[in-house]
Amino acid sequence: MRMAAVRSPLARVAVFFLCLSLVIVQGYVVREESPHNLGKEKVTQLHFFFHDTVTGKNPTGALVAKPNGTFPFNFGSLIVIDDVLTTGVDRASKVIGNAQGFYALTGLTELSLVLAVDFGFTTGKYNGSSFSVMSRNPITSQTRELAVVGGRGQFRMARGVAFLTTRVLRGINAIVEYNVTLLHY
Ligand SMILES: *[C@@H]1O[C@H](CO)[C@@H](O)[C@H](O)[C@H]1NC(C)=O
Ligand SMILES: *[C@@H]1O[C@H](CO)[C@@H](O)[C@H](O)[C@H]1NC(C)=O
Ligand SMILES: *[C@@H]1O[C@H](CO)[C@@H](O)[C@H](O)[C@H]1NC(C)=O
Repeated sequence: MRMAAVRSPLARVAVFFLCLSLVIVQGYVVREESPHNLGKEKVTQLHFFFHDTVTGKNPTGALVAKPNGTFPFNFGSLIVIDDVLTTGVDRASKVIGNAQGFYALTGLTELSLVLAVDFGFTTGKYNGSSFSVMSRNPITSQTRELAVVGGRGQFRMARGVAFLTTRVLRGINAIVEYNVTLLHY
């Protein structure tokens, strides 16, 4: 009776999925037993100012590509940056790190960017540590929310959120305030 049931095509499919689910459950168990000791998860709040200077005497960003064609909102432009991070809105305030990466103008119907930028610190407890943003940034909005997708050093395995407000805009050069909340190990 039982054997007959297994021989029916429907029962074979059922047995197949039962075996598959056992494999998946076992997979989870193996992951929980992994030897990596990550320690305790922490929450860190960061506050700093990002100076994006693409034009003028001492630029820290370079326009490296733009499309050969007419698109609205400078769509398709690509800018590579090594921008300064400071404690205050004033460029003369203490430098605490730099933001290296690139951003592209990705909005066809609005002025908007996508950032792929590593925010690294060069002083104090976080010297040598960084977190990574990979997110869209609709720069004409008063406050933007960007996704933090990873981190290194003190910010190992970070995920989080960054809130941005542009404080100063001179032509296309901007000083942006960042409030960042990170969950990390
Ligand atoms: C750029 O666009 C112009 C005008 O459409 C065209 O004549 C030229 O060949 C293009 N250059 C390249 C490198 O595609
Ligand atoms: C930051 O770390 C680098 C590399 O370890 C070191 O050379 C530098 O002196 C440190 N800076 C501060 C301010 O601690
Ligand atoms: C960051 O937080 C401070 C203090 O809560 C607040 O005054 C400021 O407006 C915030 N800025 C952004 C960009 O969220």
